[in-house]
Amino acid sequence: MSNIQEKIDHYTAELKNWKPTSAQEVEDFRLRFLVAKGILKNLFEEFKGVSNEEKRVLGKVLNGFKQAVEARFNEMKVKFGETQLSTKQNVSQDLTLPGPGFTIGGRHPLSLVRKEIVEIFKKLGFIVAEGPEIEDDWHNFTALNFPEEHPARDMQDTFFIRKQQGNDIALRTHTSSVQVRMMENGKPPFRAIMPGRVYRNEAISARAHCFFHQIEGLYIDEGVSFADLKQTLFHFVQELYGEGTKVRFRPSYFPFTEPSAEMDISCTICKGAGCNMCKYTGWVEILGCGMVDPNVLENSGIDSKKYTGFAFGMGIERIANLKYEIKDLRLFSENDIRFLRQFETEII
Ligand code: DAH
Repeated sequence: MSNIQEKIDHYTAELKNWKPTSAQEVEDFRLRFLVAKGILKNLFEEFKGVSNEEKRVLGKVLNGFKQAVEARFNEMKVKFGETQLSTKQNVSQDLTLPGPGFTIGGRHPLSLVRKEIVEIFKKLGFIVAEGPEIEDDWHNFTALNFPEEHPARDMQDTFFIRKQQGNDIALRTHTSSVQVRMMENGKPPFRAIMPGRVYRNEAISARAHCFFHQIEGLYIDEGVSFADLKQTLFHFVQELYGEGTKVRFRPSYFPFTEPSAEMDISCTICKGAGCNMCKYTGWVEILGCGMVDPNVLENSGIDSKKYTGFAFGMGIERIANLKYEIKDLRLFSENDIRFLRQFETEII
């Protein structure tokens, strides 16, 4: 008699004694007997090699064994499968339970900060204006009083799209370009803020990025003075960082403003006591500003004898950094959900 008969006898005895107590044991059984390289398949493989005479007898035995295994497996599967199923159903049928809930998107921290800044200036009568991110030489540099070949152009590392003597096309390096577009296309008075993305050819690190965001401000009318500039920005800082935040103006240079200044605020983190953020000076710089240079007014078609005005520009990342203490600029553009979730204070 063949080896197959002995094996069938052995497994039949095992089958009789098989009394599983868990779904896992039923699954283990399936993996032993019923899968592609399992016991049943192997027996049928072996069966192929026996003589025709033996086949006649063994065929019946083997088929009977196969049916017994499958029947037993199905019986046990139903037994353990059904118990599982019924507990599951009991749970899901409790219609009084609350739904599972789902996550709703929130605003990006830069959008939150931009919105806050826009709201403050809107209350002062500033409108919001926008301009293109791909900009020509005139609007990004020349009209803003950057003389050709002047080293001031090196202040900002530019991504050029087309280099053509006097007619370059570039990714804008600052939102000041929108000032020019606004003045060219309208009549004073102008009172606007201009948020947008800007680009500079910088190696990406924790402290610098090849793109970031700015908000430009412009106020042009008859008789606008440096006192108006100071009071507007002072008010802005009180609104954004709270009453009592101090400001100071340091003389500076920008080609498009004269006089120019940089504005510092008392450190919002340590309140002036000295910390990492303010490099232990108690002050942090937040923006550049000044009285719009008469050349810029004239370049943009505004009568500089009649009108004066001020402008300012700030980096949104910088403001957000002071608000949320975000040490690494790269976090703003990586879209890491663990970072973004922290700011879901407002639902879109
Ligand atoms: N455009 C300047 C920059 O990107 C910021 C700036 C400074 C804008 C002074 C202004 C200004 O309007 O008056 O660094």
